[in-house]
Amino acid sequence: MSKAKRIRKAVFPVAGLGTRFLPATKAVPKEMLTVVDKPVIQHVVNEARAAGIEHFIFVTGRGKACIEDHFDHQFELEATLAGKKKTKELQELLSELPGAGQTSFTRQQAPRGLGHAVWCARDLVGDEPFALLLPDMLHHGATPCLQEMVDAYAETGGGNFVAVSPVPDDQTHQYGIVGVEDREAKVSRITTMVEKPPKGTAPSNLHITGRYILDPDIFPLLAKQEAGAGGEIQLTDAMITLSASKKNPFHAVRFDGTIYDCGSKIGFLLANVAYGLEREDLAADLRRAIKEML
Ligand code: UTP
Repeated sequence: MSKAKRIRKAVFPVAGLGTRFLPATKAVPKEMLTVVDKPVIQHVVNEARAAGIEHFIFVTGRGKACIEDHFDHQFELEATLAGKKKTKELQELLSELPGAGQTSFTRQQAPRGLGHAVWCARDLVGDEPFALLLPDMLHHGATPCLQEMVDAYAETGGGNFVAVSPVPDDQTHQYGIVGVEDREAKVSRITTMVEKPPKGTAPSNLHITGRYILDPDIFPLLAKQEAGAGGEIQLTDAMITLSASKKNPFHAVRFDGTIYDCGSKIGFLLANVAYGLEREDLAADLRRAIKEML
């Protein structure tokens, strides 16, 4: 296979309505809810940056403008922090800010499904492979998930990659599920993919976790796609069609850390506890308080 191109761009679909997290998400985008002291979307952008991503593409919708503001300078705040010599806080704010021209924002206009949101990024991505990160899925592990995928992409010499992780057998019907050639391998060729398989029919218990490296050949397929499960344009359906062509093999990269679905209330609460327990400035007090509470 020819030498793999570098993965420079990442897409963040943030146009969903967050109905599982109402009423919090009525006026605040779910991506701006905080895990400890950073919005969920900041954690995920940091993961992408750590994996070498240089351009951050957000597919947004109405009521999501504060995401764009979050990734820009806030001059009054920065001047105030500088004036008060709060250097550490200022440095932290600035270190997490993408540079000028490193972000792009486009609008999905209507939440027609993840596949449709990804298609909305087609012109901004152009003709190169790209990363896709679902911002509400926090991947918490020793090595950042996208870094493992970028490494696997470089080692394999190209192709499409999805991160996977096991779920209990009785929950497979809630997820996109893959079958793989080698269940034990960290990286394995995908043999089958199915979105929300009916109970008892899943090819494995490996679910698609929300990190992808995709070939731009996905875009023409998304363009002509009909609505699938839940009446939405499903990304998995287009991936299934794409994987049928020999030119576009799909690989699973097993993620061995913990995944928190911050679009669900329980996932969000657990993420706050887990990330809080890792913070030097919070861990001791948090541990003590949780013990007392229990
Ligand atoms: P989800 O299904 O988790 O998001 O989509 P949602 O639709 O906001 O959630 P609920 O079920 O109503 O609570 C995964 C990701 O894809 C984005 C979401 O913003 C989320 O980050 N998405 C989903 C879009 O950008 N557009 C869509 O039409 C659907």
